[in-house]
Amino acid sequence: MTTAIYTFPSYRQQGEQLAKTLNLPCAQVKVHHFPDKESLVTLPVEKYDHIIFCLSLDYPNNKLIELLFAATSVRTQGVKRLSLVAPYLCYMRQDKSFHSNEAISQKIIGQWLSDLFDDLITVDPHLHRVTSLDDVIPGTNNSVLSATALLGEFLKNLKQDVFLIGPDEESLQWVKQVAIICDANYAVANKIRHSDTHVSIQLPDNNFTNKHVVLVDDVISTGNTVSQTATSLYQAGAKQVDVLVTHALFSKDAINILNKANIKNIYSSDSIPHKTNCIFLTNLLARQIKTLL
Ligand code: R5P
Repeated sequence: MTTAIYTFPSYRQQGEQLAKTLNLPCAQVKVHHFPDKESLVTLPVEKYDHIIFCLSLDYPNNKLIELLFAATSVRTQGVKRLSLVAPYLCYMRQDKSFHSNEAISQKIIGQWLSDLFDDLITVDPHLHRVTSLDDVIPGTNNSVLSATALLGEFLKNLKQDVFLIGPDEESLQWVKQVAIICDANYAVANKIRHSDTHVSIQLPDNNFTNKHVVLVDDVISTGNTVSQTATSLYQAGAKQVDVLVTHALFSKDAINILNKANIKNIYSSDSIPHKTNCIFLTNLLARQIKTLL
């Protein structure tokens, strides 16, 4: 069986690095956007039995249609096995109708990915009320990896005396794992979301006076969750607040919002390419891809 990694433009560097680490051929899927924003997808000329698509699904709407074009085309060309490595998996947060008549995006996207791919590898998907990715993407060989060990090792190597805070109940699963690795104390805050950009945070009942706090979360999008938490922590006497995040979605204004909240250091994994990336997932992903070969 011949195998190759196919990279997409938004994840080219990481895809090439993965192919190099695995000693696999690497080819590029080309994407052109027409003036009306339709997408033209061009596949590599070489043919392989097993193709592994690599791209993170941040800012997903274009990427999903491009993935559909590419997957359907290689299926038509007779590929025997099609895998997707998507370190960031989109649409996982809408796992129920929060208001009447809302589409449950997680379920719909999950079924759609299941129809396209034999295997899927992802990192810390935002699963809250659904505990297994197999319930979201049924019938696909799903691998859920976690970056928390790498996040924990990164913090441990900084050799700082830190207190970890998860900004909401959902972050407990990540902050706890990070805390175990770097041997730090941790707690989670309580978050009430009022809108996309407005949250209120109630800190846990700890003494933060003179503490160096690191906020740990799976996703930063607008930045309001961590900024609001940082503001409350400074009001409670913290001396420094940093942020450690797996998926650096960072919408347009997020960095400014974090700077305004006096967040000193922002550390992120490269599940989504961003200038704050300092924790690299190549080896974690490569180890899992090897199990598919
Ligand atoms: C949601 O529950 C996630 O874990 C994050 O806390 C959330 O997505 C962050 O969003 P934002 O940066 O827009 O506040």
